[in-house]
Amino acid sequence: MSQLSLSWLGLWPVAASPWLLLLLVGASWLLAHVLAWTYAFYDNCRRLRCFPQPPRRNWFWGHQGMVNPTEEGMRVLTQLVATYPQGFKVWMGPISPLLSLCHPDIIRSVINASAAIAPKDKFFYSFLEPWLGDGLLLSAGDKWSRHRRMLTPAFHFNILKPYMKIFNESVNIMHVWPHLGPLDVPPYDCLLPEGAPWFTMQAGFQGAKWQLLASEGSACLDMFEHISLMTLDSLQKCVFSFDSHCQEKPSEYIAAILELSALVSKRHHEILLHIDFLYYLTPDGQRFRRACRLVHDFTDAVIQERRRTLPSQGVDDFLQAKAKSKTLDFIDVLLLSKDEDGKKLSDEDIRAEADTFMFEGHDTTASGLSWVLYHLAKHPEYQERCRQEVQELLKDREPKEIEWDDLAHLPFLTMCMKESLRLHPPVPVISRHVTQDIVLPDGRVIPKGIICLISVFGTHHNPAVWPDPEVYDPFRFDPENIKERSPLAFIPFSAGPRNCIGQTFAMAEMKVVLALTLLRFRVLPDHTEPRRKPELVLRAEGGLWLRVEPLS
Ligand code: HEM
Repeated sequence: MSQLSLSWLGLWPVAASPWLLLLLVGASWLLAHVLAWTYAFYDNCRRLRCFPQPPRRNWFWGHQGMVNPTEEGMRVLTQLVATYPQGFKVWMGPISPLLSLCHPDIIRSVINASAAIAPKDKFFYSFLEPWLGDGLLLSAGDKWSRHRRMLTPAFHFNILKPYMKIFNESVNIMHVWPHLGPLDVPPYDCLLPEGAPWFTMQAGFQGAKWQLLASEGSACLDMFEHISLMTLDSLQKCVFSFDSHCQEKPSEYIAAILELSALVSKRHHEILLHIDFLYYLTPDGQRFRRACRLVHDFTDAVIQERRRTLPSQGVDDFLQAKAKSKTLDFIDVLLLSKDEDGKKLSDEDIRAEADTFMFEGHDTTASGLSWVLYHLAKHPEYQERCRQEVQELLKDREPKEIEWDDLAHLPFLTMCMKESLRLHPPVPVISRHVTQDIVLPDGRVIPKGIICLISVFGTHHNPAVWPDPEVYDPFRFDPENIKERSPLAFIPFSAGPRNCIGQTFAMAEMKVVLALTLLRFRVLPDHTEPRRKPELVLRAEGGLWLRVEPLS
């Protein structure tokens, strides 16, 4: 056996078996890593000292549990923002610091950084991956920038313009369901997970639409429930040209999307089930798998069918001719897209992007619309002014339909919408992982490796940015009043390279829905105040209930 003399280390000769050598190398490697990590950790702590931090609960839990996803949590956050108007540092446990940023001057450096320097942090979105794949919301690096360039034309106004018909039609169905009576369809909740309180699917799906439900004079409705279904209906038509009549009768596909969204939110609250292996053993995990399969099969089938009908040559000419005679849906546009080298998207890519639009476009818009109706219910004077604006616009027109060119002629309604998106931003927070030191305008440095939470809600409620931030005042968005304000004071659609690609689509749909709703109904508050509930989007606990009264 070979002998290794370690006397130079002050050790006596040792029989150096390969195992001992391996152990020594392993231990040195481990020690080097622990030392490097400890050094980096202390260095980061030192560099983060310039960021204020609220008192910790204790050394182990840090600030965990300080801002819960409840109404109380939202109030605590509002207080924190008032106390630390530039942002603050929190500890998620003993060794994980986070920076919460809530001022335009600080946010600017992170949100406008390139997608490589401040990529998305997957914390909020990781559970969406099996469903959405590598679509725009979740992808990163070169793939993201190539796809972003390819998909931007899909949201050009020439593509969006024909969707106005779809928006009008979907809101008409929500208001007046022309085909079936209230009890002609079975209950809809067959596919929904237990304990999805925000989506009880009762009134809407025993068949009646707003006009019928309010035929006795008025009806109390959960806005989230009705409006989510309507936004899904619109999206399914815009993305796939598919009419599932989901507002009139149950649709497995739509139920699966609602189920997936509910399951992802639920999983966030169950720490043990963050581990995939455990999650997929649970009934919820299996439902998630099943619903994912159903949604993917649907999207794949549409893509296959579309490819089958495409001619083998002259695809571009074929689609361009189709565009002239008929609305191009997002699938057509994705099939047409080419990068700079003429390379097209694969079927898998198209599926991921289409599924991403379906997810990202429905809940966000439904949240935005539900909260603006809530604010208008609380402020009848603003509601009446919006109504007059719409009546004036449509006064000699039949049928009463909002067209693309009308969108620019609803200034007060737009101000009311923006003020609501300020107070209740559908996406309350976004996160970024800083891969290089970022120097802030005041000289402080956000060290490499830190996760930053860009608090959209915090920025919108920051008294250093918005005087009397809790007051609903649409005149803040009067063109005269926005001149002095930073463009980053109002970021419901985020900003910078990874801003929302669907914001024009969303604003157009919201205006159509709001205009037609106010034309036909008076909206009144319910007696109980909604309690805010931030999940992937900002909801209300138990739904957002408002009363609607048909106008004669
Ligand atoms: C009121 C409605 C909406 C709001 C408030 C909203 C808000 C946002 C926000 C804040 C982001 C950034 C997320 C992040 O950085 O983590 C985002 C990204 C995105 N949104 Fe929207 N959104 C809305 C509607 C829509 C619609 C209708 C679509 C598509 C039809 C859409 C598609 C997307 C996509 C694909 C991304 C990812 C963009 C990228 O990373 O390149 N959104 N949205």
